Formats: sequence, C-alpha cells, structure tokens
Amino acid sequence: MPIPAANDPQALRQAVLDHMHVGMTNQTLLAEEGGPLLMESAEGIYVTDVEGNKFIDGISGMYFRNAGHGREEIAKAIYDQLTSISMNVYSGATPKTIQLAAKLAEIAPGDLSRTFFCQGGSEANESSLKMAQAYHVRRGDKGRYKVISREGSYHGSTYGTMWLGGHPGFPRTDYQPKPANVVTVGQPHYYHDTYGASSAEENGERAALEIEKAILFEGPESVSAVIGEPVSQPLGGVVPPSNYWPMVREICDKYGVLLIFDEVITGFGRLGEWFGADFVGVTPDIMSFAKGITSGYFPVGGSISTQKIADSFAGGPDKVWSHMYTYSAHPGGAAAAFANLAIVERENLVENARVRGEQISESLDEMKAKHPIIGDTRGVGLIQGIEFVKDRETKEHFDASVGVNAMLTEELRTRGVWIRVPAYILPLAPPLTITADQTDELTGIIDEALGAVERRLGVEA
Ligand SMILES: Cc1ncc(COP(=O)(O)O)c(C=O)c1O
Repeated sequence: MPIPAANDPQALRQAVLDHMHVGMTNQTLLAEEGGPLLMESAEGIYVTDVEGNKFIDGISGMYFRNAGHGREEIAKAIYDQLTSISMNVYSGATPKTIQLAAKLAEIAPGDLSRTFFCQGGSEANESSLKMAQAYHVRRGDKGRYKVISREGSYHGSTYGTMWLGGHPGFPRTDYQPKPANVVTVGQPHYYHDTYGASSAEENGERAALEIEKAILFEGPESVSAVIGEPVSQPLGGVVPPSNYWPMVREICDKYGVLLIFDEVITGFGRLGEWFGADFVGVTPDIMSFAKGITSGYFPVGGSISTQKIADSFAGGPDKVWSHMYTYSAHPGGAAAAFANLAIVERENLVENARVRGEQISESLDEMKAKHPIIGDTRGVGLIQGIEFVKDRETKEHFDASVGVNAMLTEELRTRGVWIRVPAYILPLAPPLTITADQTDELTGIIDEALGAVERRLGVEA
C-alpha cells in the first residue's frame, strides 16, 4: 500500500486501520467510529481536523495543553535550542536544563529543590518510586519496597506503574500477576462513600486511616512510599476534603514512609494554584510532574525531591542513584518548558484556571438541576467532571451496553466539542487560556449534548 498523502483523509484513515496500534482502542472500533480525529491545525482552545471541522479541545489534548494550542514562541524556543545544542550526554547537563532545574526549585512548594528529568508521566512515577526505595536503602532500610496507592488513581502504563491505583478504564486482566510490592487502599470519595461516613471530612479521615492500617498490616519496615494525586482525575476531579492530605502526611512521617505526589496533571496551574501540593497545603517528599511543564510541546517529565532525599545520594560510588533514561534532561525539552512557563506567568494562567474553574462549577451545578442523568458534578480549577447515573437514589450507572459515553461523545462532537467520554464520567479540562465567553460556549454545548442524550435514552428532563 502506498504512503497516504497528508491531504487525503480517506487514505490516511485506511492507513491508520492498516498500520497503527492506536492506544486504548482498536481497528474495529475505530472503523465503526469513522476513524480517529485527524488534526491538521490548532489555535487557542480549538483544534481543526483535516476536513476543516473545528472543535473545542475539552481535555487539553490529554490534560497537558495548559498554555493552549498554536504557541509559536514555544516552537521557536525549541528550534533555537535544537540549532545550538540538541542533546544531552551520559552524566552531562546543558545550561538550559540546569536553568530549568533552578526555576523548578523556585516555584515548587517547600524545599522540593532537586530534579531528575525524564520524558513523561509514567517514567516520572517510575523514577519517583525508584528514588524512594533507593533513599531507604542508602539509610540501611533495605526492606522498604512496598508502595501504597489508591483505587481509582492512574499513575501510568509501564509495568511498574500500571498496577498502582485502579483506573476503571484500564483493566489489568492482560497483565497478571499483580507485583508483590503494590498495596492498594481506598481514597476519599464522599459521593461513593464506602466507609459509612456522615460527612466529607469523616470520609477523608477514614480514607487516611486506611493508609495507616495498611502500613501497620504490611509492617512499616516494609513500606517505602505512599503515592497519590492531590486531586484525582480518573474518577472525574475528585477533590479530597481538606483534612485528608495533612493526615496522610502525618501518618507517613510517623512510620518513616515517603509521600510521593503525582502532579502529572495537577502541576503547573491546572487547579488554580501552581501545584496540587499548594492547593492541599501539604509538601510531599517527592513530586512527579510531566504534561503541563511544556504544555506537551516537547515530551518532558521529572521527579523533584527535597534536600533530605537528595542528600542520601551524595558521597562515594556506593551512594550513587543508578537511574537514567537516554533522553533525560534533553535541552529541547528545557527550552520548551521555559517558554511555556513564561507564558503561564505572563498571562496569569494559574489565576485564570481558578476563576474559570469557578465559572464551570456554577454551570455544572445548573446542569445538575436540569438533567436527571447527572448524579454528581465535582472538581476544582480546570479539572472537573460529571458522573452519569441511571438512578440518582441508588447511584447505579447505565449498563455499558447502553453506550451513554459513545452517545455523548457523538453529541458533543457534532456540536463542536472534542471530548472522548469514558464509561460514566465526562472529564472536563480545557486549556488554561480559556476565556469567560469560551467557557460559556463549552458548557452551553455540554448542556445541549446532555439534553440530546437524554432524549435518545427516553429520559425526561
Ligand atoms: C496522574 C497521571 N500520572 C501519570 C500519567 C502517565 O503519564 P504519561 O502518559 O505521560 O506516561 C498520567 C497520564 O495521563 C496521569 O494522568
């Protein structure tokens, strides 16, 4: 088969079906849907496909395009960097990356001040987990290898990270057995409280105590770290009550367990604060980041640690932290990050995320009053979600065979919003550049699309 021309949508779609493994779907489903979205250009919050259809990008690509689309200054910064020095060498560093590490130490909470760079979120979490365990070993705690993570979270798709958490969209049936170091507990989620709690705070307290119980059950001397996102995305922007993370921090300190925040989505402004750690008022020992650091214009991730952790790797050859990736600390990524962070600062995008988040929350509340299929709306800043239910009383979800998510994806798409809706949650995470009018445009379309889905389901609004 010849290589398809870039301006021939039909040939491109056929070539996707013939030659690509497209993540999280397959050729049969893609063929039924008429092929994947073939993007040709993008500007601000909008993406345009090869046939000229324009969509609001409702989830910022994949929660990464914080500074919005079409940023020539980021592209130019990458070009300028690659035309001077375009690589890093084994155990080396380039000026741009060094400057970025210093910048991160400036904006990161607490004394998080030393960064290991990689290419994405899964690698960042892998690095954070390895860093935590190596830290314990340097201190003589060789038995601390277990990691406590929380159901409903997502921390990546490598073998080391995919078993952490329990994203409903990522069944693990193909990848047995579960690694022996992974311990799973619940997380605060008052809407689906399983602790018999009578308030969100009690739900948070019980969830924190479940971590303590797990540490004691496993034996504190065997536990390396607790990992969690300050605000969890997979279940649709579940915001923990304010007592939860401070309690978890205390529990970790009590048993010598490290706290790792996965800020792959929450970092760099999405919650209306620079980091989720700022939002929840707790500083972790290690923080994983990716996505928003470059708004996805260059693949960059990393793990930033406190000085205490960093110091354990100083000294002779036996202290060295043996960990690397070929493309770690790529200067092109550092240039992209600098240009991106300059935009975030200059355009006050962190504050905009906060204000637009409040606007979205209000609209979601109004929609909830109108649409019976909405069970719950939640979120903060520009990570929000709507959960659909068949029955508000029982909170039962529609059977997967009804395909509510596919219906909603279609109704949104025909009205000009691009969000591929997973099983029973509509995730909402537009670029941080979204204006008040564009926010109204987005929520207005969601409102209309929900009405259309309810009509198709025969549900009376
Ligand atoms: C919270 C969180 N952690 C980690 C990851 C994995 O990042 P990546 O896909 O860049 O490996 C993701 C990806 O969506 C994420 O949302």
